[in-house]
Amino acid sequence: MIAYILYLIIPGFITSLSDGAGVLPEDPLNRYVNGTVMFWTNLSPPPTPFLSVAWTFGTGSQIVTSLPSLNTEGPEYEGRINLFRSTGSLELRDLKLSDSGDYTVIIETADNAIQTGHTRLNIYESTEPVSNVSLTPSSTDLVEFNSSVSLSCSSSGSPLFLWMNSSSEVTAGDRVQITDGGSTLTIISVTRYDQGPYRCCVFTSVGNGSSDPVNLSVSYGPENTQLNVSSSQDYYDKGSNINMSCSAESKPFAEFLWFLNGDLLPDTGSELSLVDIQMSQSGNYSCQAFNSKTLRYQTSQPSVISIQDNNKPESLSGGAIAGIVIACLLVIAAGAVGGYFIYKNRINVKATPHPIRTEQENVKATPHPIRTEQENVYVNMPAMKGREDLIYENVAEIQRSKEHVYEDIS
Ligand SMILES: *[C@@H]1O[C@H](CO)[C@@H](O)[C@H](O)[C@H]1NC(C)=O
Ligand SMILES: *[C@@H]1O[C@H](CO)[C@@H](O)[C@H](O)[C@H]1NC(C)=O
Ligand SMILES: *[C@@H]1O[C@H](CO)[C@@H](O)[C@H](O)[C@H]1NC(C)=O
Ligand SMILES: *[C@@H]1O[C@H](CO)[C@@H](O)[C@H](O)[C@H]1NC(C)=O
Ligand SMILES: *[C@@H]1O[C@H](CO)[C@@H](O)[C@H](O)[C@H]1NC(C)=O
Ligand SMILES: *[C@@H]1O[C@H](CO)[C@@H](O)[C@H](O)[C@H]1NC(C)=O
Ligand SMILES: *[C@@H]1O[C@H](CO)[C@@H](O)[C@H](O)[C@H]1NC(C)=O
Ligand SMILES: *[C@@H]1O[C@H](CO)[C@@H](O)[C@H](O)[C@H]1NC(C)=O
Ligand SMILES: *[C@@H]1O[C@H](CO)[C@@H](O)[C@H](O)[C@H]1NC(C)=O
Repeated sequence: MIAYILYLIIPGFITSLSDGAGVLPEDPLNRYVNGTVMFWTNLSPPPTPFLSVAWTFGTGSQIVTSLPSLNTEGPEYEGRINLFRSTGSLELRDLKLSDSGDYTVIIETADNAIQTGHTRLNIYESTEPVSNVSLTPSSTDLVEFNSSVSLSCSSSGSPLFLWMNSSSEVTAGDRVQITDGGSTLTIISVTRYDQGPYRCCVFTSVGNGSSDPVNLSVSYGPENTQLNVSSSQDYYDKGSNINMSCSAESKPFAEFLWFLNGDLLPDTGSELSLVDIQMSQSGNYSCQAFNSKTLRYQTSQPSVISIQDNNKPESLSGGAIAGIVIACLLVIAAGAVGGYFIYKNRINVKATPHPIRTEQENVKATPHPIRTEQENVYVNMPAMKGREDLIYENVAEIQRSKEHVYEDIS
C-alpha cells in the first residue's frame, strides 16, 4: 500500500514540477478561517473511472487516497472533506490557519497514465462582518471583440473575493484578469458568451456575502447571413410570386437591405415578396444584414432567380428545331431544283421566256424566307452548273434526315 502510494507520489512530484500546476489552477486560492474551499481539477469525468486519486498536503501528509475498493482519509481531515472521484476535485471545509500550504493531487487514469496537479491555499483570519457588497461595472453596453469591461467589487471589511459567472467561478486567463487584491475583474475583448450574470462573493471568517447580479449586454454580428428562397426552383413562371427571407445571427436584430444584380432594391425587412414577376426581375438576388450597434454588415451569397415566359417559349425542343431546319432545307432544295430547271429552260429555250416567268412567279408567290433562299439559289447558280447530281444527292439526304426526325419525334 505504502509502496504503491510512493510510486504514485514520486513520479507525481517530478511531473508536477516540470508541468507547473498540472490539472489544478496555477493561482493560489485565498480563504478565511471557517470557510470552505473547492479544489477543482480541469478534468472531465472519463468513461472509465480513475484507478486512483490521492490528495496530499505539504511534504506528503495524506488527505485522502481513493482506490476502487478502498478510501482512506488522514485523521486531520475526517468529516472535513468531500472527494469528487469522477473529476478528482476536492472540497475542504472548516478551514483552519494551519490549512495554509501546498496541495497536490495525483490521479492514475484507467489507461495507467498519471495526471498531477499542484496549488497553494492561503488562509486568513478576520473578525469584520460582511456587509454592503456592491458590484459596479465600467459599462454594460458592449460590442463583441471591440470592448473591454472592468467590474469592481466593494464591501465593508477586508474580505476575500470570489467571482462568479452565472454559476461557475471565474478563473483568470488570457482575457480575464483579477486584480486589486481580487476586487476587480477585467474582461478584455468581450465575446457574446461573456454576458454573465456576474456576482462578486466575499468571504470573511465570520460570514460571507454576495453582490446583486450584473448582466453585460454584448452586441455581436451579423454573421452567417443567408438568403432563403421559399420553394426554390430552377425556373419561375412569369407572373408568379416568389418569397425570399434573409437571416443573420445578430444582437440586436439586424436590419436588411436587398439587392438585384448588385443594385439596391427599395425593399427592407427580412422578407422580400415578389408578386407577378416580370422577365426584368431575373438575376442574382442578395441581401445585406446590418447591425446598428456593432456597425458591421454582411452580404449573403447570391441566389439566382431565372424567370421564363411560358406564352413565348424562348427555347424550343430538339424535334421542333430539327423540323424547322428540315423545312428550310427542303425549301432550299426545292428552290435549287426549281432553279436548275429554270436554268436549263433558260439555256434551252431562250426564245420562249414565258414558262420561266411562270415558274418564277410561282416561286415568288411563296412567303419571305423562301424568296430569300430562292435568291441565294440564283446567286449560286453558276456554281451549280454541272453539279446537278449534287442537288439530287442533297434532296435524297434531306429525305433521309426527315425520316430520322420523324423517328426522333415518335
Ligand atoms: C452599508 O450601506 C448603507 C447605505 O447604503 C450604509 O448606511 C451603511 O453604513 C453601510 N454599512 C457598512 C458597514 O459600510
Ligand atoms: C462566462 O461563462 C460563459 C459560459 O460558461 C463562458 O463562455 C465565458 O467565457 C465566461 N466568461 C468569463 C469572463 O468568465
Ligand atoms: C469559526 O467558527 C467557530 C464556530 O463555528 C467559531 O467559534 C469561531 O469563532 C469562528 N472563527 C472565526 C475566526 O470567526
Ligand atoms: C455563505 O454563508 C452561508 C451561511 O451564512 C452558508 O450557508 C454558505 O454555504 C456560505 N457560502 C460559501 C460559499 O461559503
Ligand atoms: C440577467 O440575465 C439573466 C439571464 O441570463 C436573466 O434571467 C436576468 O433577469 C437578467 N437580469 C437583469 C437584471 O437583467
Ligand atoms: C428556408 O425556408 C423554408 C420555408 O420557409 C424553411 O423550411 C427552411 O428551413 C429554410 N431554410 C433555411 C436554411 O433557413
Ligand atoms: C408569400 O408570403 C405571403 C405572406 O407574406 C403569402 O401569403 C404567400 O402565399 C407567399 N407566397 C409564396 C409563393 O410562398
Ligand atoms: C449571376 O451570378 C453568376 C455567378 O454567380 C454570374 O455568372 C452571372 O453572370 C450573374 N448574373 C447577372 C445577371 O449578374
Ligand atoms: C471595432 O474596432 C475596429 C478596429 O479594431 C474599428 O474599425 C471599428 O470601428 C470598431 N467598431 C465599433 C463599433 O467601435
